[in-house]
Amino acid sequence: MLVKQDVAYDRPLEPSFDSNGPKHVAIIMDGNGRWAQARGRPRLYGHHAGARRVREMVENCPRLGIRYLTIFAFSTENWKRTQTEVTGLMDLFRRYITHEMRALNDNNVKVLFVGDRVRLDPKLVALMAELEALTTNNNGVHLTIALNYGGRDEVARATRKLAEDVASNRLDPQDVDETTLARYLDTNILPDPDLVIRTSGEARISNFLLWQSAYSEYEFIDTLWPDFSVDELERLCRSFFFRKRRFGGAIA
Ligand code: FPP
Repeated sequence: MLVKQDVAYDRPLEPSFDSNGPKHVAIIMDGNGRWAQARGRPRLYGHHAGARRVREMVENCPRLGIRYLTIFAFSTENWKRTQTEVTGLMDLFRRYITHEMRALNDNNVKVLFVGDRVRLDPKLVALMAELEALTTNNNGVHLTIALNYGGRDEVARATRKLAEDVASNRLDPQDVDETTLARYLDTNILPDPDLVIRTSGEARISNFLLWQSAYSEYEFIDTLWPDFSVDELERLCRSFFFRKRRFGGAIA
């Protein structure tokens, strides 16, 4: 079971360190396959170990002052993997939702899925909708799971919806600006991420939150995702304090 958290986020948070830490952390959980292969095990073994890390991170978000945690679980490009791995991952997502649903809700976690659901199995989509509906009024940690998600795909889908609204006179083209477009994105209820972490030594974004991370700070670390610890997350949050974010402005 997840640790029971009584943090009500409408009140000021009481993190173990000051409140200048990242409020929204997004993670590219990379390295599961290599972690498993190093142990002579199939890649899915690494994904299962990775799922256990997710639970641990969610549990510790309130203590670290992280209100929003967004994780990249499956990209629009991950369908290129073997059938065995794709099926195994989809099965893992189903199990994760089924097994964690109650604990996530009991812990006041609000869950949102982002990504295109059209290509996903209807049974999985139904479980995703059930978890979202169950936790919709929770006001603790906001856990966003990117599943069949690609940043370019998200912008393309948003643009299509926006174009439909223009075509049906619900939206005036003169009113289209950054704020308007952002409302059509899957992430429209979320603030932009403050900190994006990628594990496993790769220094690329891989189509993750392209629009939203325009001014995010990045941390690329060597640790493989199944070895990523809460201590490491805390260290990255602490080093975030010392970064001077200027959002395009001049050095003070
Ligand atoms: C990338 O590692 C990881 C993925 C494509 C899947 C991420 C999924 C999980 C961590 C499973 C748990 C998630 C939830 C929401 C239950 P990789 O396989 O590309 O690793 P490699 O680069 O070492 O091959």
